[in-house]
Amino acid sequence: MARGRFISFEGIDGAGKSTQHAWLVQYLRDRGRAVVATREPGGTPLGEKLRSLLLAEPMHLETEALLMFAARREHIAQVIEPALARGDWVICDRFVDASFAYQGGGRGLDWEKIKDLADWVLGDLEPDLTLIFDAPVAIAQQRLHASTANPDRFEQEQADFFEKVRAAYIRIARENPNRVRLIDATQTPAAINKSLENIIAIL
Ligand code: TYD
Repeated sequence: MARGRFISFEGIDGAGKSTQHAWLVQYLRDRGRAVVATREPGGTPLGEKLRSLLLAEPMHLETEALLMFAARREHIAQVIEPALARGDWVICDRFVDASFAYQGGGRGLDWEKIKDLADWVLGDLEPDLTLIFDAPVAIAQQRLHASTANPDRFEQEQADFFEKVRAAYIRIARENPNRVRLIDATQTPAAINKSLENIIAIL
């Protein structure tokens, strides 16, 4: 059985990645792919409990990073690895790049510490493709405020936090040109769908 494909979706809050995540999952299922649609933090019963804590409870930035990776360890073991081994495609709303962008870029946690955790928890695993949805912070904030009545602990952060997260994502895209595609998220949803179709066609 050929191993499945692993695609992660990333971007600052409000960039519109979750809408595109749902679209791609349906697009692939319509074409007969076995798809596991999942998210981080979360994706397992334990991971979803950790997610509730992460999105609500104030905590030290290293605690935040460690809990993100604890949820990720469980997710890889219970969901991602078994799915890829079965030949399924795993389409994940956020993965390890979010830890570099949010805990590293946004909160200022040392990049090397995150790298150590990533080496430990991921081993050789990495997405075959990562789509980073990029939009100016002001536009993402507007979308977020229009769609979210009760912002979580991350969504309540100010523009300067998201500027740092966005800059980290752009750095990740530049440093990983083979794995990462930066998508202009200010385009219409239909134009973005079209780009995703083209990218997926050659995966
Ligand atoms: P998000 O996908 O934005 O959830 P929703 O669209 O339902 O609001 O993810 C929740 C938050 O978790 C998001 O603000 C980014 C944050 N996050 C990190 O800070 N580090 C991580 O490693 C991950 C996976 C997420």
